[in-house]
Amino acid sequence: MVVPDTAPRVIDRTRVPVHIGCVMDGNGRWASQRGLPRTDGHAAGEVALVDAVDGALALGVKWLTLYAFSTENWRRPVDEVRFLMNFNRSLLRRRRDELNDKGVRIVFSGRRDWRVPRGVLRQMDEAMELTAHNSTMVMNMAFNYGGRAEITDAVRAIVASGVSAAKVDDKLIAQHLYHPDMPDPDLVVRTSGEHRTSNFLLWEAAYAEYVFPEVLWPDFRKEDLWAAIIEYQQRQRRYGGLS
Ligand code: IPE
Ligand code: IPE
Ligand code: MG
Repeated sequence: MVVPDTAPRVIDRTRVPVHIGCVMDGNGRWASQRGLPRTDGHAAGEVALVDAVDGALALGVKWLTLYAFSTENWRRPVDEVRFLMNFNRSLLRRRRDELNDKGVRIVFSGRRDWRVPRGVLRQMDEAMELTAHNSTMVMNMAFNYGGRAEITDAVRAIVASGVSAAKVDDKLIAQHLYHPDMPDPDLVVRTSGEHRTSNFLLWEAAYAEYVFPEVLWPDFRKEDLWAAIIEYQQRQRRYGGLS
């Protein structure tokens, strides 16, 4: 592992979130502010993604879920959608070896439907295969992901299994989500000052703490992740009970 551990001492190492979700938002605005096409903002987000991974690794975070493309993002202009498909495919190819060297296991949440180009699916499979035996941290790319789609897919699988209605409970539903072994996110960070879930981890984030930094995703760095963790550690989680 080549990641230097320079995270601030104020972070309590015994209460680091096990799973952090990131809604990587604000790429288009970042580009517009610079008079650039929106797609340049997506490209600039790659550095932020790698830095966020390093920041999470430095603290021993076990799962990092990154929202890269939502089931609703198909509504964008075809050129932007095409760019995002190609960009995510090439990003995986460019970054998989260094992520592998860092002990990161790459997995995906989302629908592998006909809209996702075959070349993208192939890169996803190759990245998963290459890193399958890593155990330092899981980087879960939420790609063609929607929380409603995930729950719908789980319900379909449950109904298809023929289980009786009385046997359906929280646990059974969780077992049919994209990653039954994935711990619920403790912390969800959404950049760019937008305060909504946009269909991200709807089931899993039931008791997540949310932090909304103003920074636009391409400017996000590990220090911003650490600041979000510091804010998280000041929260009191009650899970509906009393403290
Ligand atoms: C997030 O940035 C990236 C994706 C949704 C793929 P946006 O493209 O949503 O950027 P803004 O929100 O328009 O600034
Ligand atoms: C959420 O951001 C999806 C991703 C970051 C991939 P959006 O920019 O698509 O969400 P809305 O449309 O502002 O809610
Ligand atoms: Mg956005």
